[in-house]
Amino acid sequence: MIRARITGTGSYMPEKILTNFDIEKMVDTSNDWIVARTGIEQRRVAAEGEYTSDMATRAAERALEMAGVTAGEIDLIVLGTITGDYPWPATACIVQKNLGADNAYAYDLSAACSGFVYALSCASDFIQSGRGKKALVLGAETLSRIIDWTDRNTCVLFGDGAGAVVLEATEGDTGLLSSHMHSDGSYLDLLYQPGFGTRHMPSAETLEDRLPYLKMEGNEVFKVAVRSLTSVSLEALEANGMTASDVSLFIPHQANKRILEATAKRVKLTDDQVYINVHKYGNTSGATIPVAMDEANRAGMLKADDIILLSAFGGGFTWGSTLIRW
Ligand code: ACO
Repeated sequence: MIRARITGTGSYMPEKILTNFDIEKMVDTSNDWIVARTGIEQRRVAAEGEYTSDMATRAAERALEMAGVTAGEIDLIVLGTITGDYPWPATACIVQKNLGADNAYAYDLSAACSGFVYALSCASDFIQSGRGKKALVLGAETLSRIIDWTDRNTCVLFGDGAGAVVLEATEGDTGLLSSHMHSDGSYLDLLYQPGFGTRHMPSAETLEDRLPYLKMEGNEVFKVAVRSLTSVSLEALEANGMTASDVSLFIPHQANKRILEATAKRVKLTDDQVYINVHKYGNTSGATIPVAMDEANRAGMLKADDIILLSAFGGGFTWGSTLIRW
């Protein structure tokens, strides 16, 4: 049986660090409030002139280098993002050009914070079907540009960054064991960006009403996020005849430490089974999982035959999980 296996990981975080103390000077908030409610201590912010495609390209280069794969060998590039350089064409096409991945086709995938796991699922299906042998899967975001920096309810939560993995066809028992993806459009207005599409074209009025910026009902999102992350994590384990004790490392979407802790408790995972880096980077939406995976990988935390569980939840709502034998 052909499976998709991750043979390289890479990430890129912009240099500029914005601490909670910096945000204290911008809106009515405090480091203590942010740390207590979210676990976030700082986040990275893209430099002027630095775009999602630039960060994604750097992450991809690092993943390709680790895999020992050249850009020309890649058959497919899928980028999970909601903050591409342009509404279209796809930022994945810019990454393709930057890398010189001339034999690939490339597209963006919009599933908010679930963008990377959705992209991984598509690329895995592509490889399993035999249509191609090597794919590049990315999650990259420049959320700092769609955040309302006058809104304390949201501006403390998010950050910028990019992560990438190289997927290759394998015939062994390792690789992606399963993907479970879900969505429910009835929650649209709990988390969205109202004024950046054709429904509200950019104008002085939409800007006045702050429509181009991310809007969120944090409290409601929190509850559904914990419920969905829990159910989709259990779904992955059950489908593979496993329980929480089989998981070597749980790498969830890094939204908020309280969401992660509540989910881990419900799935019956212990603290040392859960990878958390939200304190350093905040919520980088589609980028959180590949960035965390790359950090864990480079720290030697992902070993042969380890069972790695990825779960994500985001705007849409969308949610999904992937189970991997490393
Ligand atoms: N600093 C100080 N006070 C604040 C801040 C802030 N940055 N933000 C909100 N408050 C105030 C509110 O105005 C409110 O004040 P009030 O009681 O006088 O009205 C009070 O704090 C409590 O607000 P809540 O929204 O009830 O606070 P809560 O404990 O729910 O925490 C938070 C808010 C952190 C946003 C939480 O709801 C959350 O994490 N939600 C999930 C959101 C999320 O992660 N979204 C990311 C996208 S989806 C995903 O990635 C899973």
